[in-house]
Amino acid sequence: MNASVAGLTLPALEPDHKLNRILSSALGRKPTATTIEIESPPWGADCFGLAYSPLFNESPLLEQQHILQLASDSLLAESYAIEKAGVGYMAKMTLLAETTEERMLYSLFGADETAHLAQLMPFVSHLNLNSQEDPFLRLLESLLEVADRSALMFVIQIVLEGWGLSHYRMLSKTCRDRALSKLFRSFVQAEAQHHGAGVVLFDTSRLSAASQGMIIETLATFLQMVQVGPQRVVAAIGQVKGGLTKAQRIRLFTELDTETHSDMRLKLLRSLITPVAPNIAEELARQGLFDPFPPAQCA
Ligand SMILES: [Fe+2]
Ligand SMILES: [Fe+2]
Repeated sequence: MNASVAGLTLPALEPDHKLNRILSSALGRKPTATTIEIESPPWGADCFGLAYSPLFNESPLLEQQHILQLASDSLLAESYAIEKAGVGYMAKMTLLAETTEERMLYSLFGADETAHLAQLMPFVSHLNLNSQEDPFLRLLESLLEVADRSALMFVIQIVLEGWGLSHYRMLSKTCRDRALSKLFRSFVQAEAQHHGAGVVLFDTSRLSAASQGMIIETLATFLQMVQVGPQRVVAAIGQVKGGLTKAQRIRLFTELDTETHSDMRLKLLRSLITPVAPNIAEELARQGLFDPFPPAQCA
């Protein structure tokens, strides 16, 4: 039924199922509370670039809280889905491994992602984790299903886990909840190993034309999602304010300094791609995919 590699729609076991106790003990944890209360909202205006937005700052305090809660929830839901997909990804790479050591490493990495998922679960119990609506997760899901070893390694480990390293560092640094901040910081070392293994194992000379095409197509879609700026933050504001006019959206993207922030992100992504596969970076640059969009184009 739901047996995709990413497994994003896998159902949860009933909380009182006996397997839960075995899972807790295998994870090396005592069965803990299924919910951990966190500072709400866990991320503040500075994390979302909203600190200097008059449109945000002039809103009633309750609306501000609601906006930050929605934006924080979407960060948490995304991390949860990524770690969940990571478990399936590492399992696929374990099967595709070409040496004993590689297989051992991917199996250990699978355990890392499982631990990350288990540790995040109590923090997301209040969320409706309907990942199907998110275009990034849909892209990730279909890639995990169809891509071969080389294309997976490049997109997931070199680009996305490389990106994930600074993303988790940022989440940790800006999080107002101490336990959650500590948790994201604790992910960084494992994610650095996952990224590093991809850099060591990936071999451009073995990349087929079809895989290269798939990498370029997938990264093009991903880069476009970065080019268009902080859409989720703007969507959260729209939701709380009961909709935004085009002019308000342009104003918000301007206040969020979308071009500067997207430019930083795109530069980081380019710096992950270029040293490993300069020809791929060149093709993406030729298509203008490292150029951030101005506010009017994001709105
Ligand atoms: Fe992870
Ligand atoms: Fe990872």
